[in-house]
Amino acid sequence: MATHLHVSQSAPTQNFEVSPSLHIGHNDLLIVGPGVLGRLVAQKWRQEYPGCHVFGQTVTTDHHEELIKVGISPSLKWTGAGQKFPYVIFCAPPYQSSDYHGDLRLAALSWNGEGSFLFTSSSAPYDCSDNGSCDEDTPVVPIGRSRRTDVLLNAENIVLEFGGSVIIISIMFVPHANLDLLNKEDKGAHAYWLEKGSVEFRPDHILNLIHYEDAASLSVAILKKKFRGQIFLGCDNHPLSRQEIMDLVNQSGKFSKKFEKFTGTDDPLGKRLNNSRTRQEVGWEPKYSSFAHFLDTL
Ligand SMILES: NC(=O)c1ccc[n+]([C@@H]2O[C@H](COP(=O)([O-])OP(=O)(O)OC[C@H]3O[C@@H](n4cnc5c(N)ncnc54)[C@H](OP(=O)(O)O)[C@@H]3O)[C@@H](O)[C@H]2O)c1
Repeated sequence: MATHLHVSQSAPTQNFEVSPSLHIGHNDLLIVGPGVLGRLVAQKWRQEYPGCHVFGQTVTTDHHEELIKVGISPSLKWTGAGQKFPYVIFCAPPYQSSDYHGDLRLAALSWNGEGSFLFTSSSAPYDCSDNGSCDEDTPVVPIGRSRRTDVLLNAENIVLEFGGSVIIISIMFVPHANLDLLNKEDKGAHAYWLEKGSVEFRPDHILNLIHYEDAASLSVAILKKKFRGQIFLGCDNHPLSRQEIMDLVNQSGKFSKKFEKFTGTDDPLGKRLNNSRTRQEVGWEPKYSSFAHFLDTL
């Protein structure tokens, strides 16, 4: 790999500076969207490949100092043509960019084709909204049904055309204590609902969860195996209704607040995800086997 980059270790940068002093190594990783998931991926990646460099592409400079503190070299603007990385993971959500698909193409063009290129998507496009079973082979909704699913499906298609792979992630959660410098609040649907107390959704909608650490370990396992053009699913195989999730939270005795109730009656139902195929193909199991198991560990 012929690319030479110099990364500032002091002030937040707007761009990686070109310099002969630093080579892009065989195990270096570019994270587009180094948020909660991306930073956990960075942490696990460095455990796998001590001494590697991890780069982060963001949309603002708001978190550049935090990123430098956790060993990620941040950049605001896209690296110039020719600056390519063996491993690229795109974990930026669609809502912060005016040209999400353009950003994704730039990420794909930043991949040198050697290691892996992985895109993080969500399970929204699976065509199932009756609390039915769903896995990697479940058909997706047709393009044109909703803007939200169109954005994700078109993004997945771009990634697959470039030879990259996709990880479809269920709803992620993590307690703030595990977030280190990142956040002062718990992350996840349960934390959001607990804060609100009463929520205008139906209680029997089935959801699928995964701890952020497990989503990160699965992402790293997929990156390491250098798959091409495959779709994987990240979930804990313990689907729960909204009501069951909040009953577990209330009964756990681990939170100071109490959730009151869900008041919705006619919003859509959900889906029950199973990722046995992904587990077998990647050789991965979650650290937190279910949301109940996670609560027990608090
Ligand atoms: N949370 C869930 O339950 C869930 C479920 C399924 C899938 N996902 C997907 O999983 C991924 C990671 O989620 P997360 O919770 O870790 O996200 P997050 O913490 O909100 O992180 C977002 C990060 O992405 C950066 N970013 C946003 N748009 C960007 C763009 N166009 N180019 C470059 N950087 C950009 C932000 O930069 P700044 O530092 O400038 O703000 C921030 O660093 C996302 O793709 C999300 O859609 C999440």
